[in-house]
Amino acid sequence: MTGVKIVGVGHYVPERVIDNFELEKWFDTSDEWITTRTGMKRRHWASENEATSDLALAAARKALADANLDPTDVDAFIVCTVYPDYLFPATACIVASKLGAPNKAAFDMEIACSGFIYGLTVASSLVRSGVYKRILLIGAETLSKLVNPEDRGTAILFGDGAGAVVLEASEEDSFLGSELGADGSKPQLLLVEAGGSRHPIDELALEEKTDRIHMEGREVFKFAVTKMIEATDSALAKANLTKADVDVLIPHQANKRIIDAAMKYLEMPSDKCVINIEEYGNTSAASIPIALSEAVGDGRVKPGDTIVFVGFGGGLSWGAVAWKWQ
Ligand code: ACO
Repeated sequence: MTGVKIVGVGHYVPERVIDNFELEKWFDTSDEWITTRTGMKRRHWASENEATSDLALAAARKALADANLDPTDVDAFIVCTVYPDYLFPATACIVASKLGAPNKAAFDMEIACSGFIYGLTVASSLVRSGVYKRILLIGAETLSKLVNPEDRGTAILFGDGAGAVVLEASEEDSFLGSELGADGSKPQLLLVEAGGSRHPIDELALEEKTDRIHMEGREVFKFAVTKMIEATDSALAKANLTKADVDVLIPHQANKRIIDAAMKYLEMPSDKCVINIEEYGNTSAASIPIALSEAVGDGRVKPGDTIVFVGFGGGLSWGAVAWKWQ
């Protein structure tokens, strides 16, 4: 086995900013409600012409530039997304071709908001086992296009964006431990019901908006706090580390109250936690790599830091990765 490290990071968000006051014009809601219940102030929404691959491409280019690499230096491209350009082909195939790196391995991973955590575990394993030397791993979403415009409970939560990392084989190993889990017994808690093989889209689906995100927020909230704590503890235990060893926590940005509750239980001071939910809302599989890219850019993540990435989402699913920044 070899080691793995991240040699480049980058992120991209669409130009169009939707603040809470704008949402007040469309929904029976308020800046005060959204801020106190979620911590969100703004989110960026893709234009009609921007698809998930466009955001992924922009983030990928930045990560490659940061790594000082050409796209052809990369052996495999992985896009974690819940809302690809098409049901198939995979968005990663489109991104790799547009980057000018055709004929390489390219595939998508779909495990909702846990996508980047699962993706980081899979991509790291492919590098550590020697299958590939370099992998470009991207989390990219355009969930503003998938929300139910009649449901104020979910439509206000999601933003669009993409974050990317370049993973490379390394003598020292950044990957310290991972915990992944899923429970598919209650898909109704968080799902898009129509559009798959069980319920292809028909007139009733369009009328009842079952082709859009449905979420039972309170249930997901309780699950999220519990699983963020358990997954962090397990990933650290697998890495032979404790909470006290963590320099930076980078959680999925779904709700500031969820993050605060988890931080409190984990007894982590808030300055150890990267939170940008105020600016971007919930960008699903993109939220962790966007937060990482920002934190590396402004020096909150430094060489030698022990990081825990932790997320949860549809599935229901969850996961955490303990990582040494080199
Ligand atoms: N503006 C004003 N009022 C609202 C809004 C809104 N935007 N949305 C809901 N309300 C109302 C409800 O109708 C309800 O009113 P009622 O008491 O008269 O019935 C009241 O506010 C409370 O509703 P709750 O749903 O209980 O509000 P809660 O405090 O739970 O906050 C929220 C809702 C923000 C969705 C929260 O439950 C949450 O963040 N849950 C977790 C979501 C999450 O983490 N998702 C991540 C996964 S996403 C993925 O994987 C793709």
